[in-house]
Amino acid sequence: MNFNLLFSKVILHKRNLFQLLAYKLSEKFNNYIFNRTFRPEYEILIDYHLSKEENKNLDHISIIEFGVASGKSLKYIEALKPKFEKKYQLKINIFGFDTFEGMPKSQNKHDQLYDWKEGDYSSNYENVKTSLNYSKLIKGDIKRSINLELFNNLNISNILVIFFDLDFFTSTNDSFKIFDKSFSKFLRPRVGLFFDNLQSSSEFSGEYFSIKKFNEENHINNKFISKDFYLEKFDNRFYQYMNFEHELFNENFKNIQFLWKKF
Ligand SMILES: C[S@@+](CC[C@H](N)C(=O)[O-])C[C@H]1O[C@@H](n2cnc3c(N)ncnc32)[C@H](O)[C@@H]1O
Repeated sequence: MNFNLLFSKVILHKRNLFQLLAYKLSEKFNNYIFNRTFRPEYEILIDYHLSKEENKNLDHISIIEFGVASGKSLKYIEALKPKFEKKYQLKINIFGFDTFEGMPKSQNKHDQLYDWKEGDYSSNYENVKTSLNYSKLIKGDIKRSINLELFNNLNISNILVIFFDLDFFTSTNDSFKIFDKSFSKFLRPRVGLFFDNLQSSSEFSGEYFSIKKFNEENHINNKFISKDFYLEKFDNRFYQYMNFEHELFNENFKNIQFLWKKF
């Protein structure tokens, strides 16, 4: 029984005072004791995808965070790594992408410039690197750092979960380069996604606008970013990337299923 996971699930139903209190306390505890951001959503998403039959026989997976800043949410992922490696008997590689210069200059009205400005969340690459134990940091604008050579060199393979925290529409839209056909071999056929700023975005701005635009442009290519209806009960920021053209998309790893049981 994973009590941590159960705890994460219970408190994400922020329905009563106890749950709200638990969330706030956990937030403070993680921040002051471990200097990391409390991200129970990360734990739920990783566990959900690792528990799927189709991922049971993998010897490793890769997890990506787009938008690292001071590394506080990456630290939360790092704390989950040993637990999930033990539970699922595989290796977890963690990659973080950022310029470490903070929010880029933008004049795009879809970027919610009323929420963020140039230089917000700037951090020191060297300090962030030293504060982390396992993660590989990739420094640079997402437009250029998502490139085939780097993915090959760093063996960023079996990508199973991606956390988006780039805030701007333009940056998130640029990061969707990872769903280009040429990157397909690095990804699992279905990839769990989490969009941290979805709740502050809208149909015409920020992360939600990037998702909408992606689907409008890519449904003809059989690629979709869909809401995750199972995880929706915990949080409405869970999505999944589905590439119908992925060579493993229709592979069914489940045993024969029956609606009745033999006596
Ligand atoms: C909200 S912060 C990330 C916070 C972090 N995930 C946490 O919870 O501690 C957003 C980050 O996105 C990065 N960013 C935004 N646009 C980017 C781009 N085009 N390329 C690389 N990094 C970018 C910024 O440098 C900033 O550090």
